[in-house]
This record gives sequence, C-alpha cells and structure tokens, in this order.
Amino acid sequence: MQHDRTSEGRIDALLARMTVEEKLGQLQQLAWNGDTGPGGGQNHLAEAAARKGVLGSVLNLHGAAHTNALQRIAVEESRLGVPLLFGFDVVHGFWTTFPIPLAQAAAFDPSVAVRDAEVSAAEARSNGVHWTFSPMMDVTHEPRWGRIAESSGEDPYLTAVLAAAKVRGYQGEDLADPRRVAACAKHFAGYGAVEGGRDYNTVDLSEQRLRNLHLPPFRAAVDAGAASVMAAFTTVGGVPAHAHPHLLTDVLKGEWGFDGVVVSDWGGVHELTVHGLAEDAADAARIAFGAGLDMEMASTHLADHGRELLDRGEFGAARLDDAVRRVLRLKFRLGLFERPYADEAAALGGPTPESRAAARRAAARCMVLLKNDGPVLPLAATVRSLAVLGPFADSADLHGTWSGPGEARFPAVTVLDGIRAAAPDAEVRHAAGGAEAVAAARAADAVVLVVGEPTAVSGEASSRADIGLPPGQEELIHAVAATGTHFAVVLVSGRPLTVEGWIDAAPAVLAAWHPGIEAGYAIADVLFGSVNPGGKLPVTLPRSVGQLPLYYNHENTGRPADPDRPDAPFVSSYLDTAHGPRFPFGHGLSYTEFEIGEPRLAAGTASVAELRAGAHVEVTVDVRNTGPRTGDEVVQLYVHDRAASIVQPVRRLRGFRRVTLAPNESAEVRFRLGADDLGFWTHDPAGRHTVEPGAIDVYAGGSSAARAHRTLTLTR
Ligand code: NOJ
Repeated sequence: MQHDRTSEGRIDALLARMTVEEKLGQLQQLAWNGDTGPGGGQNHLAEAAARKGVLGSVLNLHGAAHTNALQRIAVEESRLGVPLLFGFDVVHGFWTTFPIPLAQAAAFDPSVAVRDAEVSAAEARSNGVHWTFSPMMDVTHEPRWGRIAESSGEDPYLTAVLAAAKVRGYQGEDLADPRRVAACAKHFAGYGAVEGGRDYNTVDLSEQRLRNLHLPPFRAAVDAGAASVMAAFTTVGGVPAHAHPHLLTDVLKGEWGFDGVVVSDWGGVHELTVHGLAEDAADAARIAFGAGLDMEMASTHLADHGRELLDRGEFGAARLDDAVRRVLRLKFRLGLFERPYADEAAALGGPTPESRAAARRAAARCMVLLKNDGPVLPLAATVRSLAVLGPFADSADLHGTWSGPGEARFPAVTVLDGIRAAAPDAEVRHAAGGAEAVAAARAADAVVLVVGEPTAVSGEASSRADIGLPPGQEELIHAVAATGTHFAVVLVSGRPLTVEGWIDAAPAVLAAWHPGIEAGYAIADVLFGSVNPGGKLPVTLPRSVGQLPLYYNHENTGRPADPDRPDAPFVSSYLDTAHGPRFPFGHGLSYTEFEIGEPRLAAGTASVAELRAGAHVEVTVDVRNTGPRTGDEVVQLYVHDRAASIVQPVRRLRGFRRVTLAPNESAEVRFRLGADDLGFWTHDPAGRHTVEPGAIDVYAGGSSAARAHRTLTLTR
C-alpha cells in the first residue's frame, strides 16, 4: 500500500520522542468491561495506563461519551498525547443486527455484506468505535464448530469475495471518514480446520491446503486494504498461529506486503504457555513478538517483559519500531491525531427506519428454500386461518451470535409478529408445542412451524457434538405432519443442522439462519412470497454427523463412490448411510424455476503462458426463468482440473452471479477465468502458484451438483 509521506514523517518524529515503555504501551490492548474471553475487566488498569501514555488500544468500550472520557485522559493527560484506538466486535451489526455472516454468505450477493458493513460502521464509529474485529473469514468443513456461524462457510472463493466486500464496506475510501471503521481480517490462519469441530482444538494442515483453502480470503482482504489481521488461537502443524513466523512474517508481511497491525486474539499470547510452547510469560512475549505479532490483546506479557527482552537482545529496536509504526499508522489513517473524539451530538442511538429496512431486505435475501413439495409455499395472502407453532415461533432469540450491543436493547421481531403483520385478516393461533400445538394445527388451513437452535449454541466456544434439532422438536414436526394440514418448517440456526430424522415428513423447509433484528418480518416476506427466496447453501448439508467432514470441493480418492451404483463394493463410502450430502453446497430453490444452459467458452484452448500474463477465457452461461413468477437464480461456475501434479478438488467454485428474472425472461451471464481460477498452490512453503497444461472441465448450474460442462484445454 502507498504510504502517506506526511504521516510517515510524523510517525518518525513521534518514534524519536518515545521511551521504550511508551513504545511497548502502544502495543498493548486492554479490555474494558464486557469481557469476551477469560478475565475480569481491566478498567482501572486502562485508565492508569492511558494517563501514563503506555496504552495503545482498548476493546469493548463503546458510547461516544464513554470513549471520549477515556480518550481525554490519553490525549490530554499523557506526556505525548497519543490517542487510543477503540476496538469492538461489530460482526453483523452494532445497533441494527443483520443476519449472521453464514447467512450473508447464503445470499451469494456481496451487496448484502457491504450494506451490513456500511450500516455497522456508521453506527459503531459514531459511538466511538474505530476498529471492528471483523470480517471473520475462516473457511471450515465443520458444522459442529460453533464459529461456522461467523464464517462464510466452506468455500474459499465465496469467502474471499465476501471478505473483500466487507473490508471495503467497513473502511470505505478513507478511514478518517466518521462513518467508517478499520476492519480486521481474522483468524489468521487455519482456525476453521479445528479437529472434530471442537473450538480451539488442534489444526494440522499441509501447505497446499493452507494456501488453497485457508489463505485466499486473507489475501483478498489484504488486497482490499484491510487495516489489521488477527492471529488464530489454534496451532498449525504444532505451532500456534500467534507464534508462527511463517504465517505472520513470511507470508503476511513478506509475500503479501501487509503494512497494517497484526493483533493477537484475546489472551492468545498468554495461551502460548498453556499450549506448552512457551516456558513462561516472558518466553511467550518473545516468541509471539518474534513471530510477527504487533499488538497484544488482554494479556500483558509484552508490556511486562518487553524491556527485559530488548535488553537481552531477544529482539532489536527495529522490530519494536516497526510494530509501533504499524499501530501509529493506523491511528493516523483513522485521523485520530486530528480528531480523537467522537461527536457526542452525532452519535446514533439505535436503528433507523432505513437501517431496519436494509436488515430486513438482507435477511430475506439470505434465506434458503431447501424443499417445497406441493408446493406449500408461498402462503396465500388470503389464507383464513394459520397456526404459527414451535419453540421459535414467538421467540426473539433470532439475533444470532456476536450480535453487538443492539441485541440487549432492540429485540428481534418474532415470526408470530411478522406473520400477523403480513396477514392482518387471517386468524392466527400460536402454541409453542405439545397437544395445544397439534390441536391448533388441526384447526388451521396452514401451519408455519418454527424450529431450530438458540443463539447460545453457535458462535465461539459453542461447538456441538450433535447438530440435529434440540430434543422434542423432531417429535413436534411428526405430530404436526400427522394432522394432515399443509405445513412449512422454518429452520432457525447458526449452522447447517442434520435433518434426516424429519425432513421427509415436512413438505416445505425454509432455512432462515439467525436472521437478525427484522427476523419475523423477513421470514413473513418470504413465506407469503413478497420476496421470492433465492439464497443458496454456503455449506454442505450432511446426512449425519458421522459423515463429517463433508464438503463439495473434496479431492477424489482412488476409489470414488458412484451415485448411480450405490451398492458397488470397495469404494470410498459408508456402509450405513447413503453417499453424499442431504443437500449439496450451492443448493436452494425458488418459487419459480430456472433453466441454466451449458457454459459456452469463448475459446476451447488457452495457453498457460498467456494466462500467466493476465489473459482470461470468457465463459457465457444462459439462464432463463421458466416458471410463473419473478425470482432470483444464482448462476454458479465450477472448474475441475482433471489431472494435475497435486490431486485437485472435484469441483471448485470460481464464479457466481445472482440474477433476478421475470417469467420467461432470460439473461446471459459472463464470467472470466484467469490464472487464479485455473491454477493452484503447490506444497512449496515459499508459495508457488502453478497453472498446468491439460483438460479443465468447466461446469455451470444452480448448485455444486451441476452436470452441464464444457472442456477447456490448457496448452503450454
Ligand atoms: C476472541 C475471539 O476469538 C475473537 O474473534 C474476538 O474478536 C476476540 N475474542 C475479542 O472479543
């Protein structure tokens, strides 16, 4: 990135005046109340450190008046008056909760993520927050992992597109803009590969998996100008990411030229001793700082031991200055030296009609219609009587994990309220479950049954060994099915749930995820068809936990299962379950139907040399709405390299476009495939991307199960 000469000069001047303690202080972030990890609040420490000029940043403090009060101490009472940086987890909304990030991925539409980021940034910055610990971009194959809710799912390409979009949405053109915040690409890297989906668990990755699956979103975020990167709690190949020079220094700062701040996760430096990598606190600071970490969150090992480490020659003055420069650079970019205080009169106090409308639109755009036999949906606006049933029918627990301070003050709209507003003339009855629910189902013209998992069982430290519906809900579905009344299941969740026990009994199923503050209205929009659902699964929906990990972009074995020969022996499959997912990645229905043509290649061959020099192959795909209503289809483009020096995924998403078409309307969707799309990273730790000659199958369709394809031949 281009450096601003004036501020680099001012940084030089400041560095020249700073003591070692003041420098180390810039690298310290302390927590205000509202711990987001083990600890007890560090308020008194923070105030004293700010006054002494030995504090760089504070997390979990918000509110213009509150941040200003602490900022005043740093700016007016400390020797050099360096402003503090206020960080906060604004993950999918500050006041206005948008759908969880996993849901946003299901929209297959970056504008959803951008709108969330813009609204979040304006609300947060006006309340004194400069820096959000978002976007999270950990690619994962593990629905058991609670943090899948914060992710964009299993695909590196989709995740990378959304990561870049979100960074731009948060940061805009100018971080000094009072409607923008600095972004943080997290968690670097590989956290999504935790074994067994158990949070914080071990990760072991080959270099090629790291580079092909886990790093692309970070690269995209850095290229989009992400101001900071957070290290992952987890190990990669036996070394915690906080202590990983290959990741933090060689790849991130070296290969990618990242000039922003690398921040630890909460207590991540301290945890190096718990992992058993560091002997003690000083050793942990030595290892993490040496690996390339710049700022320590919550634990204080570097501030406590940095001086002694410097004196012992464990790191040089240049490393210290480089880390401090990165922190100061961010403060300059945010304009904090000119405008350290938030404008208290301009602080946004809650959602506005516009932000709510944006959240409602986003939530409806994220929903995925998994099945719709009958069709049961959409419900007729003229329906006379409706039973709205299930444990989540009248629940406001729809914000989802990491929903920010808005959650406590602005409850989510319940499905019951949303439906009542959408069908004011219908007789609407509600029961959470039991005999009352069954009686209501029997008496109604149609049933909406809202089941799922509470917010508390997804997110950080919220992994589940069983990802089915919580006890009692499956039975309720079967009881409602037995009444014979038409019904639709609305599924709220922070992850893909296993549905085998009940899905055949349910004629229609809408995956609504945790939809955020406008949940009930958005769900009603889709149920009654004022919004035609167009979301797609950003994750594979497995049949059972025993199949995990299960993901669409897997490599082939030497003995792949053939879906057309389910009884074939000696193939890679399970004896006791049907092969493959219940629903594939990219799946999602609409109230209308689409026909997607074979991909058309502008050229049947392309030379590797030309691709390497920046050439592209243009691919055109025709899509037509063949059904009765206006609706959205996500045209998806996948590639498969048939033979390569490293076994390649059977499909790799390399393009998608969500289009809206009226009945009978068609569109021509164009994609461009270049070296990034047709090549891959090798095992070489130095980072080698290669494009190899040979046949590449290019698939187009409405899910990862697409079969229509053409072959592109790459020549030397
Ligand atoms: C721990 C989480 O891993 C991280 O995502 C979050 O930003 C920090 N805590 C701060 O709350």
